[in-house]
Amino acid sequence: MAFSLAFPALTLFLIYIAYNLYRRLKAKLPPGPRPWPIIGNLYDIEPIRFRCFAAWSEIYGPIFSFYLGSQLNVVINNATLAKEVLKDNDQNLADRFRTKPLANVSRNGSDLIWADYGHHYVKVRKLCNLELFTSKRIEALRPIREDEVTSMIHDIFRDSTKQGKSLIMRSYLGLVAFNNITRLTFGKRFMDSQGNVDEQGKELKEIVSNGMKIGGKLNLGDFVPWLSCFFKDDNEALKAQDSHVDRFTRVIMEEHTLARKNTGETKQHFVDALLTLQKEYELSDDTVIGLLWDMVTAGMDTVAITVEWAMAELVKNTRVQQKAQEELDRVIGSDRVITESDMSKLTYLQSVVKESLRLHPPTPLMLPHLASANVKIGGYNIPKGTIVHVNVWALGRDPKVWKNPLQFRPERFIEEDIDMKGHDFRLLPFGAGRRICPGTNLAINMVTSMLAHLLHHFEWSPPIGIERDGIDMLESPGTVTYMQTPLQVVPTPRLPQHLYERSPIVI
Ligand code: HEM
Repeated sequence: MAFSLAFPALTLFLIYIAYNLYRRLKAKLPPGPRPWPIIGNLYDIEPIRFRCFAAWSEIYGPIFSFYLGSQLNVVINNATLAKEVLKDNDQNLADRFRTKPLANVSRNGSDLIWADYGHHYVKVRKLCNLELFTSKRIEALRPIREDEVTSMIHDIFRDSTKQGKSLIMRSYLGLVAFNNITRLTFGKRFMDSQGNVDEQGKELKEIVSNGMKIGGKLNLGDFVPWLSCFFKDDNEALKAQDSHVDRFTRVIMEEHTLARKNTGETKQHFVDALLTLQKEYELSDDTVIGLLWDMVTAGMDTVAITVEWAMAELVKNTRVQQKAQEELDRVIGSDRVITESDMSKLTYLQSVVKESLRLHPPTPLMLPHLASANVKIGGYNIPKGTIVHVNVWALGRDPKVWKNPLQFRPERFIEEDIDMKGHDFRLLPFGAGRRICPGTNLAINMVTSMLAHLLHHFEWSPPIGIERDGIDMLESPGTVTYMQTPLQVVPTPRLPQHLYERSPIVI
């Protein structure tokens, strides 16, 4: 009896495997792990996806494919193939795959991040390049960034002398990133100088954390369309989030419109810029709201994460920390605070930033691209509708192109001038091609300035009882990659006391 049931089941299973093999070979798809019926490889993927993909590339090669439900995915793991994706076939691989929650938050791609490549995208991207991220506007908003970074130094100084023990780096970095991005985007600081968050600020934080929970979920229903009816419950949460975002943003937009009417003055913040350009660029309200939230979601965590990883490396590598401080002492001295104009002279520090982004890109798989036409990558067919991931974490650690790739050695960038803004495919923390991060210069600027201040003002060591080599350098799962164990550090001030003061600036 058992045999009579097992035999047809086994036969079906073998037919299924043979069919899949045939399909892959015939379609000349990249090789990859065998998918399970219905779910594909959804449950084969380890939580830290880019590490799992790097391990799979050891088995299947630098380009491999897998299935999420019935959705074909391809992962690229070396620089040569990354160039084929982001340069040679850029336009045909520049759409986005939107899960249901992402389609919802982006109003079906009415924003920039989740928009497909087409007329709308080109228009909004042009607006970003020509209006929002111009050096003139970024320079005009510089007092905000300098204010926030000195506020961080003030808080760390206060807490280090008060508590005399280790601090959780992330709480300070998160705060600078939050204030920087919200002031740049919404033109408002949602907390007072004591760190008390106002009601609107609390609402904003709630929207961000809710958005993370909703947007980060992988539902089988997104990849197996006929199963989507079983995932109804989330609809309510999505609607609630949607109207919350809408209400919140419209209040701020109205406040800015009123302020402009009353004063006749247009500020440099993104909300003012978008409202004044709305007619000229024919932007819907959905697009204005979507763009504002794109900046918050793309720009906040990435910057804080980058600095946390860099600080972890600097605490581990005393030699590098001291060398960066020697440069700061030589260029700035110890009787004044750094300004952004000093940064171009800090060559070693710039290499520290590059080295840190090489080993710890905060978006290790960039954002997924979607094929809008059939293309060939590495000699394999990539059919229209395939999701394409570039594993920039693996690119930065490829032993074929990096000498001692796991060693943190900023000098490698002094010995060889390697670009990280999309021209050198070995190092792509910001992506490359049409969809390269539009905030690249701003991000590099914020990260370098935060690190410069942290290193100039303090010497950093691990808490008592923790060896430098004992710092946990593993990542936590997610689209953006926080350290699994938040970095704890002991700061020791190294400048005269009056240089730790902050005088708040309102712009
Ligand atoms: C260290 C910090 C940052 C890193 C490493 C980073 C990296 C990236 C990456 C890898 C992408 C995806 C590129 C692709 O899909 O091909 C991206 C997209 C994007 N980033 Fe950044 N980013 C950072 C900071 C920022 C900041 C500060 C902003 C704005 C305030 C920003 C705004 C955006 C936007 C709007 C997109 C979507 C672009 C598109 O889809 O066309 N990013 N970023």
